[in-house]
Amino acid sequence: MSDPYDDVPYDIHPFPQTHPSRLAAVATLFGLDPPPVDHCRVLELGCAHGGNLLPLAEAFPHATFVGVDASARQVADADRTARAANLSNVTLRHADILDIDAGYGLFDTVLCHGVFSWVPEPVRRKILDVCAAHLTPNGVAYVSYNTYPGWHLRGAVRDMMRYHAARFADPRERIGQARALLDFLAQASANDTGPYGTLLRTELGRVRELSDSYLYHEHLEAVNDPLYFHQFAELAARHGLRYLGEARVGTMVATNFTPDVRKGVEALAADPVQTEQYLDFVRNRTFRESLLVRADAAPDWAIRPDAVRRLHVGLAHRPDGDATDFSPKTTARYRTPSGLTISTSRPALKAAMRVLGAAWPGTAPFAELEAGVAGLLGAADAGLAAVVLNTYLASDLLELHAAAVPAVRVGERPAALAVARARLAAGEDGAATRRHEFYRATDLDRHLIPLLDGTRDRAALVDRMAGVGGFRVEQDGRPVTDPAARRAALGRMVDEALDRYAEVGLLTG
Ligand SMILES: C[S@@+](CC[C@H](N)C(=O)[O-])C[C@H]1O[C@@H](n2cnc3c(N)ncnc32)[C@H](O)[C@@H]1O
Repeated sequence: MSDPYDDVPYDIHPFPQTHPSRLAAVATLFGLDPPPVDHCRVLELGCAHGGNLLPLAEAFPHATFVGVDASARQVADADRTARAANLSNVTLRHADILDIDAGYGLFDTVLCHGVFSWVPEPVRRKILDVCAAHLTPNGVAYVSYNTYPGWHLRGAVRDMMRYHAARFADPRERIGQARALLDFLAQASANDTGPYGTLLRTELGRVRELSDSYLYHEHLEAVNDPLYFHQFAELAARHGLRYLGEARVGTMVATNFTPDVRKGVEALAADPVQTEQYLDFVRNRTFRESLLVRADAAPDWAIRPDAVRRLHVGLAHRPDGDATDFSPKTTARYRTPSGLTISTSRPALKAAMRVLGAAWPGTAPFAELEAGVAGLLGAADAGLAAVVLNTYLASDLLELHAAAVPAVRVGERPAALAVARARLAAGEDGAATRRHEFYRATDLDRHLIPLLDGTRDRAALVDRMAGVGGFRVEQDGRPVTDPAARRAALGRMVDEALDRYAEVGLLTG
């Protein structure tokens, strides 16, 4: 039988929320003492092309990474990229999760993104067994999965697509036919203003936006078994694991709900698992990214601001504006990636945003942030750790990391991340940044980034770009053909591109 992931490979994307440095930060908040990320051991189950694992291996050359996947085609692809990027700290295994044995050893981080709900029950149980048997005492496992109640409606649309696509064998035709059905349903429900039509249109709108590969694997494949959160937590406990929290800790915080909801959940729930379950009912949650630890680990859910002092603080994106007035009389507004606007008059937060904006795309150790804030305000603010923690918990404005993310400016002979160079040289549409985010490449990037190996200065880069056949240089929408004008335009394009790579975190020098 052919492997569906060989037929339609999964998109090559990094998942910032799975970064071992972020997971170690969450563990630190919950009172655990995770080992240093720079020397950690990471196992990824269902690593596919290594879109998540390989950039991590490049970021931490003294750490060890093992990826396992059942798709021969994807593992071969990951292996090719690892070799092209000269990574010697990663092992990629074409193997079934069911066959993982004691020989794999212990890991500080086990990652399993996008697998649990999409594999048969014995594999699901084995994933939890692997976490229990292969985690070090302070290790953390990340497992993502689809949840109810949100997946009841989502599952209905999936059932409709699968019913229709079942008549077609070829994967591409199945995708095309599923999309045709979505179009038909959207049209058929256009005038239905009742609850069914409204719900259906909302879900159709979401599914129609998905990439072919995501639509195929999430909605057309045979297995997609969501479960309620309490069922996941019970299953984990039966396998010798304890629920630690969510990778995005902010989603756990009842204070982000209205006081009425908070009071209601407090009255209904007797423990953190029940609290989470009732909150899922309230928000119709569809997806979770849960962290598990060994049953003998003893997390403390009362997060203390002092834990932040051991971490590095960063921004989720560069702020659009920069507050210059730190007095408590003026309000500054910051947009978060999820579209929230945080308004604050707190001098410490405004000053922290300024210091972190200057560190972008890197992070600052808390002590450095504290010193920077004191410098801007003229005195230290004893409440800074609490301000940082509360902002981190209440929004996605700030990030916490256990290891630093460096900011690298454009060097004399610019160098880009080796995995990004290898991916783009192989014709991929983008690559992971140092912030472990996906950078979608332009046509220029696909030619330029592979050249950034630290051996060429700006003039040599422009020379090489000028020699790239078929690369169109335009000015005001018209092609530039005169050789001198083309070279000058290319020079400007290379300069802008290098600044952009520094800004998104694609450079190593
Ligand atoms: C939906 S993809 C997710 C890939 C990647 N982790 C992500 O989230 O983008 C599921 C992956 O798990 C792999 N997989 C499924 N069952 C497996 C098994 N029993 N053993 C090893 N890998 C498996 C598939 O080959 C595929 O690459």
